[in-house]
Amino acid sequence: MIQIGIVGVGTVGASVARILEENQDIITARAGKEIRVRKGVVRNLSRARDVAIPLTDDVDEILDDPDIDIVVELMGGVEEPYHVVKKALEKGKAVVTANKALLAYHRYELQDVAGDLPFEFEASVAGGIPIIKALREGLSANHIESIKGIINGTANYILTKMMTEGVDFGPVLKEAQALGYAEADPTFDIGGFDAAHKLLILASIAYGIDAKPEDILIEGIEQVTQEDIAFAKEFGYTIKLLGIAKKVGEFVELRVHPALVPQREMIAKVDGVMNGISVIGDKVGETMYYGPGAGGDATASAVISDIIAIARGGKSSPMLGFKRPLESGLQLLERDAIVSRYYLRLVVEDKPGVLAKVSQVMGEQKISIETMLQRPGEGETATLLLSTHRCEERAMQQALHALFGLESVKERPVMFRIER
Ligand code: NAP
Ligand code: HSE
Repeated sequence: MIQIGIVGVGTVGASVARILEENQDIITARAGKEIRVRKGVVRNLSRARDVAIPLTDDVDEILDDPDIDIVVELMGGVEEPYHVVKKALEKGKAVVTANKALLAYHRYELQDVAGDLPFEFEASVAGGIPIIKALREGLSANHIESIKGIINGTANYILTKMMTEGVDFGPVLKEAQALGYAEADPTFDIGGFDAAHKLLILASIAYGIDAKPEDILIEGIEQVTQEDIAFAKEFGYTIKLLGIAKKVGEFVELRVHPALVPQREMIAKVDGVMNGISVIGDKVGETMYYGPGAGGDATASAVISDIIAIARGGKSSPMLGFKRPLESGLQLLERDAIVSRYYLRLVVEDKPGVLAKVSQVMGEQKISIETMLQRPGEGETATLLLSTHRCEERAMQQALHALFGLESVKERPVMFRIER
């Protein structure tokens, strides 16, 4: 028998306890032994819960219990779970976590502390999709050329509802929270940080890159309006929050931002809480992964797959996929050097000469405009919606700065990237 302690019995932890009970037959058969929850840890013992496991509010009851083989960390946060997980490993226990924020900051230190102890984290990226095992094992013969995906269920749920039902941001976020999709602090979902945490985990496994969230380009979906959605639809795009990791020579670009994606692409059809990830390997070509990206049961499915893998015996592969560093070490590409196409929304004075000034700014940065649309705005203003050909981020940032400096530009310009 394998005994586990669950630190955090909230949305995911409660699903883990419930599924271990409900699917006991198949889980025992697959693991080759019974898996039992010995205890769960919560903050508030007086809260009513739909789980039938012994609970405590003292994490040491799990960490100091010699009969607990696996500590399952599902409490969220960064520093507190770091100490819990580190202590569990130091006491010789295997660890399973779904905590991408923890791994975004501490994955390399924890890999060192874990050594040969199993440390699994399938649920940390893309909920129920087994993307970690796919990258770490199934695609291990390949140089990974790119990873492009929708890796935050909450943001995708919100954008899908905004696109298809024309609804506002606020009420849809509340729905996503009620469904158990959002982080305890939903700014992580909306602001792109949760997707960035996941992208960093994938980038470690694919490229051996040790970067932190602060090192990469992260933009959220807060600025997406119905006006942008209308433009996107008119030109055959949908708007998605993407996480992108791409090998560019000896560099890897890492970025998270909303993007206009052509409607015909598979990734554009990934709606609601679903996640979709395209991985291109140099030998296999493109592979696609699709499934629920958030929610208690979908995430618990991945957590339990890790528990079963450990129960079956030992550690299958190094935590982050590399037994020794890649000799031709890859470097993180600086943000300014990222190349993309862009969409801009500008609120301008509706008077002669304004278009010429906007074009001049773009020309000075050698940015070529692809399409331009003008719509009447409020009062004496108009809204300019334009898309560009490919240019460097550096040039675009300078153009945005110069545009906002024009007297005829009335609001801070809004920019999204175009991905195809
Ligand atoms: P949640 O519903 O907020 O549950 C967190 C649980 O941890 C609660 O039971 C809470 O206790 C307990 N907890 C928090 N801080 C604690 C502390 N200091 N001491 C003891 N217990 C503590 O969160 P969740 O949605 O289940 O997410 C858990 C983890 O899974 C997070 O890392 C999250 O990013 C990750 N994840 C979530 C999903 C999802 O769809 N929800 C998907 C993938 C990954 P109380 O109940 O008493 O407050
Ligand atoms: N809040 C996360 C999301 C949970 O919405 O994708 C899954 O990691």
